[in-house]
Order: sequence, then structure tokens, then C-alpha cells
Amino acid sequence: MLPPETELWNRVEQTAREVFGSFGFGEIRLPIFEPTELFARAVGSETDIVSKEMYSFEDHGWIELEQYRAALIVKSMSPGLPSEFTQFERSVLAYVDILSKRMSAGDVPKTPENEKALVQVRRCLDDMNRAGASFVGTQSASDEISFENSLKGVKQALLFFRLGDVLSLRPEATASVCRAYIEHGMHALAHPVKLYYTGPMFRRERPQKGRYRQFYQIGAEVLESVPPNTDATKTIGKDAAVDAEVIEMVMAYFARVGLEGVQLDINSIGHSAPECRRGYVEKLKAALEKVKDKLGADSQRRIETNPLRVLDSKLESEQAIIEKLPRIGDHLCADCAKHYAEVKRQLELRGVAYRENWRLVRGLDYYMRTTFEITARGLGSQNAVCGGGRYDGLVELLGGPPTQGIGFAIGEDRVILSLQEAGKGNRAQGLDVYIAWMGEKTLAAAIRAARKLRDAGFRVELPPVEQKFGKALGQADKLGARYALILGEDEVASGQWTLKTLADGTQGKHSEAGLMEFLRKQKS
Ligand code: HAM
Repeated sequence: MLPPETELWNRVEQTAREVFGSFGFGEIRLPIFEPTELFARAVGSETDIVSKEMYSFEDHGWIELEQYRAALIVKSMSPGLPSEFTQFERSVLAYVDILSKRMSAGDVPKTPENEKALVQVRRCLDDMNRAGASFVGTQSASDEISFENSLKGVKQALLFFRLGDVLSLRPEATASVCRAYIEHGMHALAHPVKLYYTGPMFRRERPQKGRYRQFYQIGAEVLESVPPNTDATKTIGKDAAVDAEVIEMVMAYFARVGLEGVQLDINSIGHSAPECRRGYVEKLKAALEKVKDKLGADSQRRIETNPLRVLDSKLESEQAIIEKLPRIGDHLCADCAKHYAEVKRQLELRGVAYRENWRLVRGLDYYMRTTFEITARGLGSQNAVCGGGRYDGLVELLGGPPTQGIGFAIGEDRVILSLQEAGKGNRAQGLDVYIAWMGEKTLAAAIRAARKLRDAGFRVELPPVEQKFGKALGQADKLGARYALILGEDEVASGQWTLKTLADGTQGKHSEAGLMEFLRKQKS
């Protein structure tokens, strides 16, 4: 990203700060990476984001331990050569000994998984020993196979051992906001807690227009702890109003930023209970099983892993089939149905136009009840500029108190693209004044003029060395300056400075104070 495009990025972000601020949101700044486990638990380990798209790494500096492990793992061996095996066993045990010591010292993670891995290494080495010794006598295939399997077990356990914590570049930020809410005891703050964030997210997706591996989100979350003994049916009206206000805010933002062709889709996916979403998913699964043969490979797999995601399919051949599937709206429990009806009424009250879309299920596991997505013009297939929804229970799932949540994230890259497609991208502010100074004696006046003009908010270019006037004016033109302030020794001596308007070539003389006054008037 380069200027002048970055000015558009700044405007898009600044407008979010203003609009979100006017709704009482404060900014939260989040880390770029977090423990992988956080995303796996919050977003869901079966989702595409977590299972395929995260950039994860083991956070450690144990290069020599890594190399030691690599050397052990590539070793191949036959049970017919006991000396080779003895040598291998000695090396593995020495390695395990180092790992145990590091673990006790707290230099590598002392986790149950790591402890289990070391036990497995030792056990498999014993098995290998036994099978190897037996093979020397019997030369039997079964001893050879069990020797091979035990060797595999040793290598696998060595690979499973984590030399450092496993971290991931954040693929989204809701999980981090919830973690921060818990860690900072935000349940004790005035409620609801309203936070927004901006910044890069990372997903290993196939890049195309509007889809990148590093992309930028502007997001907002509303969190509210639930006091003990709260009757959940009594808060439905309030919850729906919060949902509607969050949606109203993001729509107000898109209007302010000038996005065109904005379309809001909403849905309710109920809550996870047998009489609500879980019951529906069973029915959906049964219906999908009946048409399994007509579905593509992805959808066939999803019948098992996440049947709701079949509804997301864009595959042409599946569309007619999906249209005939059971719809979640017909299977919501009474409270979720009431909540959804109230969200729609609240949106209408606020004059927010929406379209109901029963297939809108979203690709993250934490949602319940309200889900929404906003699309905009000029983006081709990647036209979702915002996705969000309600996620009551997520904070609790991450170890916090019972808490309700609702939020969204805007794809900033896509907002920028859409604005550029609509011809709203070229807001580059050019230079105001180029100071064409000549002669060492004028430099002090030029520096003074530059400082005063900059203090007054003008964009000023002061060349570091003097230039011939012709070259200076050419340079001013190239930089898109509106004016050239000409400072020669005559001007400085007389106190009458020459200001040239570059668009029409006119010029006038001004005193130092008069010049500031003139430019200020031109600006306003
Ligand atoms: P999401 O739908 O995964 O939701 O992402 C939100 C938005 O980020 C998308 O609508 C899209 O505009 C943008 N986006 C996603 N992936 C990419 C990509 N690879 N390249 C460019 N833009 C992309 C979430 O992330 C949730 N955390 C939203 C949320 C907040 N729900 C509740 N609170």
C-alpha cells in the first residue's frame, strides 16, 4: 500500500473511529499472534479457518534440539543389525534426557501431551528392543513388522513433542477480544463493554481479487456479562435491540464512508439445543443423506463435519437441491423465534433495510441466533464486506463468566476496492506550497516560512538545497503543488514575497503576514 492510496485507507479507518465513537465504542489493540488453541476453541477446530488456513508455528529458539530431532527422524534401520539399533536407542535416550531436563527447568512446555510423548518414546524403544532381539533368532516377518511399527511410534512421539508453545497469526479478532475481556476482568466494568479494533488478519486462502492472505479488518464487539439467576427469556427484547443497534451502526458507517450498492442479509441460526438448532441439524442431516449422491465432494464431507455449511455452497449443481432442504426458520425454539422477530422489528424501527436469507450460516462455530452479512458493489465473487453475529457463551467457553456477545468485522480491503471501483478512491491531497528558494541568505526565511505554513496545516515542500527557479517550478508542478513561494534575495530584502499560482501562472506579492492570511483564505 502506497500513497496516495493510503490516504483512502486512513479516511476509511478514521470514519470508523468517528462513527463507532459516536455509538460509545472504545478502541482495543490486540496482539497479532495468540496461542493456536484460542482460535481452535473459539472459531472451531473443524472450520476451514482453523483446519486449513492458519499460519501456525512453534515458538522456540532450540535450533540444535530441532536438528537433533530431525537427524533421529530420518534414520532408517533394520532389525538384523543390532549394533545400529543400539546406537539409535542411545541417541534417542540421550535426546529424551535433554528434553526431560529442559521440561523440568521450564525451558520447554511442561504439558501433559509432552509428558505423554516422552513416555511413548520409551515404551516404543522397549518394544523395538524386544522385537529386534526376537528377530535375530526367528528372522520372522511378524517380528520385522513389529520392529518397524515401534520405530514409527518412536519417531511419531518425537515429532509430537512441542519444543515451544504453538502460536498462530490471528485469522480473526473476536477470540482475542473475548480472551482480553476475561484476562482484564472486564465483566467488572460498566456494561455493556463496547470495543472496536482495526488491523491485519491472516488466512492461508487462495488469493484472488478481494481475497488475500494478509487482509485488514475493522471490527466491533459488544460484550455483556449475565448476572446469576437471570431469566434469559426476560432479556430477549434488550438483546434484540443491541443486535439491531450494532447493525444500524455498521450500516451508518457504510453510508458515511460512501459505499455503494450495500445489501444487508440477516438470519437466525437459533441456539444449540435439541429443541432448536441441534434438532434442526439432525433433520438437515437426514435430508442431506437422502440426496448425498447428487452433492459435490465438499458438501458430502460436510454432511458429517458441519451440515449447516452445505447451505453456504455456491456450486451451481447444488442450488436446486439446497432450495428444497428444511429451513432453520421453521425449527427455531420459541425464544429464538421471538428474538429474531424482535431483531427485525428493531431494524425496521431504525429504518435499516434488510433481506432475510435462511442460508446465511457463517463459517465460524461461535455464532448463535443473529447472523448477518453485508455485500457491496464492484467486488465480483468476493463481495462480502462485513460479517457478524451474536455469540453468547463464547466467553464462558474460553473460561470466563457467562457473557453475551455480538459483533462484526468489516473487510477493509474490500471496502477500499469498492470505493475505488465507484471512483471514490482519488482523494489524494496534493501539496499546497512548494518553496522555491535561491541564495544562502534566503534559507532562514524559507525555513521560517515552511514552519509557519506547516503549523497552519498546509502541506509544504522545502527543497534541501537551492535550485534554479525554472527547475524548482518544474519540481513544484510534478509534485502537484498548488502554489510556489518564490524566495530570492530581492524578496527577502524587500519583505515582499512572490506567490505563484501554478494552475494559471498568475502571481502576486505579499508580506510574510499577508501571505499567511491570503493562503488561509484560499483554503477555507
Ligand atoms: P468473517 O466473515 O470471517 O468474520 O470475516 C469478516 C470479513 O472479513 C468478511 O466479510 C470479508 O469482508 C473479510 N475477509 C475475510 N477473509 C478475507 C480475506 N482472505 N481477504 C480479504 N478479506 C477477507 C469474522 O472474522 C468474525 N470475527 C466477525 C465477527 C466479529 N463476528 C462477531 N464479531
